[in-house]
Amino acid sequence: MKLTARSVSRAALVTALVAATGSAVVLTATTASAASTLGASAAQSGRYFGTAVAGGRLGDSTYVGILNREFNMVTAENEMKIDATEPQQGRFTYTNADRIVNHARGQGMRVRGHTLAWHSQQPAWMQSMSGSALRQAMLNHVTQVATYYRGKIYAWDVVNEAFADGSTGARRDSNLQRTGNDWIEAAFRAARAADPGAKLCYNDYNTDDWTHAKTQAVYRMVQDFKQRGVPIDCVGLQSHFNSQSPVPSNYQTTLQNFANLGVDVQITELDIEGSGTAQAQNYERVVKACLAVTRCTGITVWGIRDSDSWRSYGTPLLFDNNGNKKAAYTSVLNALNAAPTTSTTTTTTTTSSTTTTTSTTTTTTSTTTTTSTTQGPAGCSASVSALDQWSSGFVATIKVTAGSAAVNGWSASLALPPGVTIVNSWNSERSGSTGTVTFGNVAYNGGLPAGGSTEFGFQANGTAGALSLTCTSR
Ligand code: XIL
Repeated sequence: MKLTARSVSRAALVTALVAATGSAVVLTATTASAASTLGASAAQSGRYFGTAVAGGRLGDSTYVGILNREFNMVTAENEMKIDATEPQQGRFTYTNADRIVNHARGQGMRVRGHTLAWHSQQPAWMQSMSGSALRQAMLNHVTQVATYYRGKIYAWDVVNEAFADGSTGARRDSNLQRTGNDWIEAAFRAARAADPGAKLCYNDYNTDDWTHAKTQAVYRMVQDFKQRGVPIDCVGLQSHFNSQSPVPSNYQTTLQNFANLGVDVQITELDIEGSGTAQAQNYERVVKACLAVTRCTGITVWGIRDSDSWRSYGTPLLFDNNGNKKAAYTSVLNALNAAPTTSTTTTTTTTSSTTTTTSTTTTTTSTTTTTSTTQGPAGCSASVSALDQWSSGFVATIKVTAGSAAVNGWSASLALPPGVTIVNSWNSERSGSTGTVTFGNVAYNGGLPAGGSTEFGFQANGTAGALSLTCTSR
């Protein structure tokens, strides 16, 4: 991420990070000065603001005028889907997709690739395939398309919409699913091999409400992928909202929980049916939720004018049919401009490796942590390695590191301040939710080599304050 220093009125937060490379990076978050377009205002906090583009509208000067002025990320609305890029098996056509990619890149915009593997918008030849022939054809498609666009794609929606709606948390039945449950990870591995520079995302809808079975199921899949080393870098939340599917009150929690798995989160197809102030307020809530989550790296709306939308009857976008800015546009721009700006002020590089710079939008981070060790051969230590505090709660990631000898199991005991209650935790066995809480390893993360580490996390209500930890190993 490239961050530029800008003139600022006051410094609001200074966070010091020590990256694994030994580089020290000091990030200064300051109040953003007002930018006048969506892309520029999102860039102030290191994020992007994108739109879906329909190739057929690139001759419309009003459309292109807004596109070029406002956005800095583009997704092809249909032109990179399987039926578009491989209409006959083994015959790839990129003309329409290239028109969009070239337009975007010519304007200095980046591109999200959408999508390599999906049950929908498959060409007829693929729809009629099954079994190992289909698995091979799918993997070949992923490989060919990701290779063709290697180096030009910021993030790929490698797999789209693979989970069922409703209360089961099951995979969606499809010809791809029937090739075996591992079809998703196989697609991700093929995509990584073809374009190692692109972020690889899993993308879905109805994954916005943290309590929904589908959200939980996607969360568990991403957690499992991270644990087993399946290459995944991001989760896309389509976020198509209307009165049947409103912006959930726990939307930020969902974004944060996914981010805490160690992936970026992107809002990939945002549209919100409605009009006037109510619509503007819903857009504002979505933007603020993203801005409050450090790893929410950008927002894409699913079209430019209401008349460009796949749900045009719901007038769900930021510009009206004539290309005028709606109230929703103004609320989005204002929310983006109110975000703390992040700029890199100091970088001391001690090795030649890449330093990862993280944008910080959290305004209150009061943590301290301590650690201590002992027992077992050479003990272990535990520390809070990430903590995001919002007005009523926080999420913490705790890292357990083995001492100079391997450990076969560990437990970390954490003294919570009064008033703090844990509501959720992952990657550990927990006893208790208030006072002194103990987290023990689970089957897959108990064994650590000397100096090796693993992470687990929890979400709590209340204010973190000073957290103190003790680690015990065996
Ligand atoms: C939609 C397009 O907007 C329409 O033009 C097309 O007819 C159908 O697909 N989830 C997705 C997108 O991932 O690809 C879909 O786009 C909308 C729902």
